[in-house]
Amino acid sequence: MLDNPSLLLARSFDLDGGDALASHQNILVANFSEDKYCLELANSFDDKQFTAFTYNFAAFQSLKNAPDNLNVVCDHQLKTESKFDCVVIYFPKSKPEFEFLINNLFNHVETDAPIYVVGDNKGGVKTCEKMLKTFCSISKKVDAAKHCALYLTTLIEPSKPFVFEDWYKHYQIEINGVELTVYTLPGVFSHGELDMGTRLLLENIQKPKAKILDFGCGAGLIGAYLSKINENVTVTGLDVSALAIESTLKTYQANGIVNGKVLLSNGLSEVKAAYNQVYSNPPFHSGVKTNYAITELFLNTIKEYIYPHGSLTVVANSFLKYQPLLEKHFGHFDSLSKNRRFNVYHATKGRN
Ligand SMILES: C[S@@+](CC[C@H](N)C(=O)[O-])C[C@H]1O[C@@H](n2cnc3c(N)ncnc32)[C@H](O)[C@@H]1O
Repeated sequence: MLDNPSLLLARSFDLDGGDALASHQNILVANFSEDKYCLELANSFDDKQFTAFTYNFAAFQSLKNAPDNLNVVCDHQLKTESKFDCVVIYFPKSKPEFEFLINNLFNHVETDAPIYVVGDNKGGVKTCEKMLKTFCSISKKVDAAKHCALYLTTLIEPSKPFVFEDWYKHYQIEINGVELTVYTLPGVFSHGELDMGTRLLLENIQKPKAKILDFGCGAGLIGAYLSKINENVTVTGLDVSALAIESTLKTYQANGIVNGKVLLSNGLSEVKAAYNQVYSNPPFHSGVKTNYAITELFLNTIKEYIYPHGSLTVVANSFLKYQPLLEKHFGHFDSLSKNRRFNVYHATKGRN
């Protein structure tokens, strides 16, 4: 099943019998949905070369078994010698991420190439018109349906050479007397400020031990904090976003964390090891949409990745009902702290 932005694209590309793509050979589709529309495109236009680029490992995984004319790339930036002659962009969840994305992509696009931008109205796709002005002709809305819009413009001015490092923001935090510098890229959770749920979790951490997993690490601040209070721990920051993984590496480096590792993974899909302790401020969004499934799956399976007598500590918004899952898998859990908005839960494996 295609999602709404893909349905709109499919309708536009089908309506004119594929004329929109007819004169193009090297087509870039960026920030694509997890709905396999890229596979449909590559199969329908098998004389053309497609590159599907994403920061999101779940989207990357959704295009397994791609045909030869579809190159699927998941990375924190697009690095290629190729010049694309047509670009399709799914509008990301935030304006700063769109700005970051186009500044990177437009280095690799031929002048006069058509640029399509599709997205949900609620996700703010309309703002692309203003943001594209730096590089493109005036954008036209060429189609709209199902609460989505499709814009078309032409690249006039390629972007300046892309300096990845310039896109980091950083800020200082202090928890229980421990100071940290946090680095974040656009689109990464807590870009520019510490989340209040994460603060409550960190304020209530007792004794970090041995081998630790920070699930959904974002900018890596949970792992960095744990390593700061006990430099003997080894922490692995796991996230689905390549931009989060890169931010985590930068946060570890900035705080002198030498035992910090990272893992790009969709949920626990790439986890091959077990841990003594798992900490998380787990996600309940995919892009702009609410999604409880990721954390429910995490809570249903994480016990298998925790050593006997190891523990799980999570912070969650009070309205999220994770308690029944903790009880089902761990038998017992405590609340380490709570306030009006958040609750910090702690469960130990092997205690019933
Ligand atoms: C609530 S944020 C917490 C970030 C960070 N730990 C903090 O406290 O600031 C949740 C994180 O989970 C990540 N995430 C979302 N879906 C995921 C998935 N399927 N697998 C792994 N991580 C995911 C998001 O990219 C985001 O960084």
